[in-house]
Amino acid sequence: MKFFIDTADLSEIQEAKDMGLLDGVTTNPSLMKVAAERAGQPLDFADHIGKICDLVPGDVSAEVTAVTFDGMMIQGRELAAIRNNVVVKIPLILDGIKAIKALAQEGIRSNCTLCFSPTQALLAAKAGAAYISPFIGRLDDASSDGMKLVQEIIEIYSVYGYDTEVLAASIRHPMHVLESALMGAHVATMPLSVIKKLLYHPLTDIGLTQFMDDWSKFQEQS
Ligand code: E4P
Repeated sequence: MKFFIDTADLSEIQEAKDMGLLDGVTTNPSLMKVAAERAGQPLDFADHIGKICDLVPGDVSAEVTAVTFDGMMIQGRELAAIRNNVVVKIPLILDGIKAIKALAQEGIRSNCTLCFSPTQALLAAKAGAAYISPFIGRLDDASSDGMKLVQEIIEIYSVYGYDTEVLAASIRHPMHVLESALMGAHVATMPLSVIKKLLYHPLTDIGLTQFMDDWSKFQEQS
């Protein structure tokens, strides 16, 4: 399973990269806003995406803000020109589906975002999206089953042999990662806090403390 970090904050990306497990990055307009707030200054979008791409060799999703086909095509080409590892993030609306198909014909890869139903995901795959992003946590927040959506997408894509990779998104906690992994999602994108939580188990810490104490006692005896 590939691990992407869901942030536009360069220091968080660096920290995840330093763990040696980072395969890519997803950003969105809200995450750009947070990054600018933390930086305490306005950020140039293209420049900032370029910095992220230089930091991480894997795929970096950068989202269009246009909502028309023509606008998405213009922005999609601009974003793809920033670096080779940019994947253009496009919302799952009618013009978005059209843009995904047209960009794919130009060799530009897309991450189809804001997916909340399996039929939406089917359209994204038919259009040729490189990634589909089902938003698990936001569905859970709305009293729906986010994991069920991931399961259904994986099943549909497997039946028809679509190449579109399932990118489990809007992940809130390690159980979302575990269930996505068990289902065979290709990628999980998550905040740094969740990546760190994947590591934690109290019995590991208790066991290590015990081993260190006993090792000290053993050395005193020798
Ligand atoms: C994915 O690409 C999105 O940026 C992200 O996972 C959305 O997560 P949120 O629901 O926590 O905002």
